[in-house]
Amino acid sequence: MKIAVLGAGTMGNGIAQVFAQHGHDVVLRDLEKPILDRARSTMERSLNKLVDKGRLTTVDRDATLSRVRATTDLDTVPGSRLVIEAVVEDFDVKAELFRTLDRIMATEAILASNTSAISITRLATATQRPDHVIGMHFMNPVPLMTLVEVIRGQATSDQTTRTVMDLTKGIGKTAVEVNDYPGFVSNRVLMPMINEAIFAVFEGVAAPEAIDQVMKLGMNHPMGPLTLADFIGLDVCLAIMNVLHEGLGDPKYRACPLLKRMVDAGWLGRKTGRGFYTYTEA
Ligand code: CAA
Repeated sequence: MKIAVLGAGTMGNGIAQVFAQHGHDVVLRDLEKPILDRARSTMERSLNKLVDKGRLTTVDRDATLSRVRATTDLDTVPGSRLVIEAVVEDFDVKAELFRTLDRIMATEAILASNTSAISITRLATATQRPDHVIGMHFMNPVPLMTLVEVIRGQATSDQTTRTVMDLTKGIGKTAVEVNDYPGFVSNRVLMPMINEAIFAVFEGVAAPEAIDQVMKLGMNHPMGPLTLADFIGLDVCLAIMNVLHEGLGDPKYRACPLLKRMVDAGWLGRKTGRGFYTYTEA
């Protein structure tokens, strides 16, 4: 089946890779060629890691890459049965894209968003097909994480949900259906934990390394919450806390002032080389 992925950042190229690994032809679209070039080399690196770990053959790696068509041309997107939007986390940008997709895509095409916190119900109102709009929230790093949170908006149909759940299973992931409320399940539970860990640094309860060790060794988390915050991006963490705070109206979701200050300073985690830790490779 032909799939289109819009946005070739970390999430978009991971999503494109996983669909291509499972035999789908994928159009990966972004606005500029250098972004697409970077996406392709990220994908090559990711596939090579899987080859090194013995989880993929070199033949399958090459076949996967050949199934991904990277393009800046939106005209190549119609013809896809499913479009997954993974552009910047900005409601207006996404809504504008959904309006355009609604105009150019076949009426039966499903429009999905990989948003981590924006309301699917609101996005759906930008289209004339709210029953065909759904959330597919992949986890980072997409090639390794098995969960896809499938989010039903107010008007999402049973048929759309079933199709997306089946497609998700077909790419080797576990689909979990949730309803459209701020942060869905993943970020409603994860982000307050990360925010609380940041409060613990802010209030001098312990150093970042100590907090991470407690959660890693004490709770068997693969990464401590502050390492994970750096991995996700502190700007993303702050944006999600703001969505929870505004959407649920409860002060327990207020972002820690230290998180705000670090974002103001441009210390966004791994991607800028500095967050709670420093990184030699951004
Ligand atoms: N493709 C892409 N990235 C890969 C990869 C592959 N095939 N194989 C490894 N990686 C990445 C890891 O991210 C990490 O990056 P660097 O090399 O740049 O340091 C590195 O490769 C680690 O490699 P390992 O072989 O040591 O991987 P691992 O087996 O230790 O697993 C991990 C790494 C899966 C990331 C594990 O640490 C983990 O599960 N961490 C928690 C991740 C998590 O919680 N993700 C969800 C974030 S929340 C989210 O995504 C939703 C949201 O809305 C914010």
